[in-house]
Amino acid sequence: MHKINVISLVLIVVFAVSMWSCADTSSKLTENGIIPKPLAVTDAKGTFTIDKETKIVISGNPAEISPIISVFQALLRPATGYELQVAADMSANSILFELVDGSADSAGEYDISVAENGIKVAASSNEGLFYAVQTLRQLLPASIEGSQVATVALEIPAGTIKDKPEYAYRGFMLDVARHFFSVEDVKHVIDLLAMYKINFLHLHLSDDQGWRIEIKSWPLLTAVGGKTEVGGGEGGFYTQEQYNELVAYARDRYITVVPEIDMPGHTNAALAAYGDLNPGIIVPTEGAIASEGIELGVKGVPTPLYSGIEVGFSTLDTDNDVTYQFVDDVIRELAAMTPGPYIHIGGDESHVTELEDYVPFVEKAQAIVTKYGKKSIGWDEIAHAKLEPGTVAQYWAKAENAVMAINHGNQVLVSPATKTYLDMQYDSTTHLGLHWAAYIELDDAYNWDPTALDPSIKREDILGVESPLWSETITNKEEIEYMVFPRFAAIAEVAWTRQELRSWESFVTRVKAHMERWEVMGLNYYQSPTLADETLQP
Ligand code: ACM
Repeated sequence: MHKINVISLVLIVVFAVSMWSCADTSSKLTENGIIPKPLAVTDAKGTFTIDKETKIVISGNPAEISPIISVFQALLRPATGYELQVAADMSANSILFELVDGSADSAGEYDISVAENGIKVAASSNEGLFYAVQTLRQLLPASIEGSQVATVALEIPAGTIKDKPEYAYRGFMLDVARHFFSVEDVKHVIDLLAMYKINFLHLHLSDDQGWRIEIKSWPLLTAVGGKTEVGGGEGGFYTQEQYNELVAYARDRYITVVPEIDMPGHTNAALAAYGDLNPGIIVPTEGAIASEGIELGVKGVPTPLYSGIEVGFSTLDTDNDVTYQFVDDVIRELAAMTPGPYIHIGGDESHVTELEDYVPFVEKAQAIVTKYGKKSIGWDEIAHAKLEPGTVAQYWAKAENAVMAINHGNQVLVSPATKTYLDMQYDSTTHLGLHWAAYIELDDAYNWDPTALDPSIKREDILGVESPLWSETITNKEEIEYMVFPRFAAIAEVAWTRQELRSWESFVTRVKAHMERWEVMGLNYYQSPTLADETLQP
């Protein structure tokens, strides 16, 4: 009898403990909603609550760390009204940001340790501290994303997070040529990229339909070539001052801008501005904006502006010295506005440039980029040319081109159109986008491995992963949001998180938590049926 009572008591205790731990599951650090998924997370007992008395403590050069502290303060301010103060010493309610020594390959790495009496954040780079702030943000309730002061309990479960990016280059491309997007819209995109630890923004600045960056030595590029866009709208361009503002805005969020001038194809806007660049290849009339006195396809004569969505019909005159003066001037001015290492020279779909003309053109364009102290990135077709050391081939269409680049000793940036092209429709009912490469649902965007695309493309050959948004059908910020979210969160995780740590089931849970955030942020995201509960049953 006595024995039975003891057993019952033990069972009751076990039951009570298990109930308590069930009730506690929502407050475990390991059950976080962080995207991209961190390298390692552990749980500890208790929670830390940020309140208006929480102090920030800095260890390291304050001039370096302060901008990141400002980012953290600004993230908390709108929804809480808190103005967290910086204090000299740790207390029972503080958050420490510490810059520690690290190796060159620790860029972006950070550690977070949450205890009941405070949080410690350590990184060997400012970039790492910035990523830690983005992670802390995602540990806070979705309501933190609101723009009005509300009652928000800022509890974070205790434990540790160790994190480090898998790929050095985690990119997003915005096509501002097919449709032009304002400086404000691009800043909005940059804010969203920063949340997902993206570190490169590739701007596709020129194409057949528009030239979008002021080049002072060739003013008609924007005065004429910037005047329209797909559908015949008014187009636009960035002045150098506006462009510099964008580069600085991105830099403050640890994002490097990669400017692209697409050459020698995709150049009708330049040919419309300067007839000297035109070798006299016929351009399609469908979509051509007829202008009086302008003839089609006459060497040395400006082409009509173009507002259709055909590709592959234009080329620079590769056999004319003026063309190389043009390329030199454009790259020189662009390099002067580019603090980052890369200039993108395009090189895709030059269907009307003979290969014997294309190859020397790409080699000369690369040499000009090198002369101005930058490295070239080009779409995978550039692998037909001799690539300079450090040139990167962006694999979008053909694995054989990517492999050719690797065989030259160059790295590839992975953007397979069938997985990463965010202008592809989700399915046949999507009212925006195209589907020439594929329909790409959320699970298609998530369930692939950059190192499994081709047996000859190994981990060490891959510089990183980039998701492009082409804008033939995308005309405004809401449409950008719709095509980008939620797929972009999937690709951000492909780029940041080691393959063996990723799983669709885990991503589904976390992306649902992000949908709550996107609601609060007012984002026009796509409701993917792959996240509906019934489709998640085994
Ligand atoms: C491309 O999609 N033409 C690079």
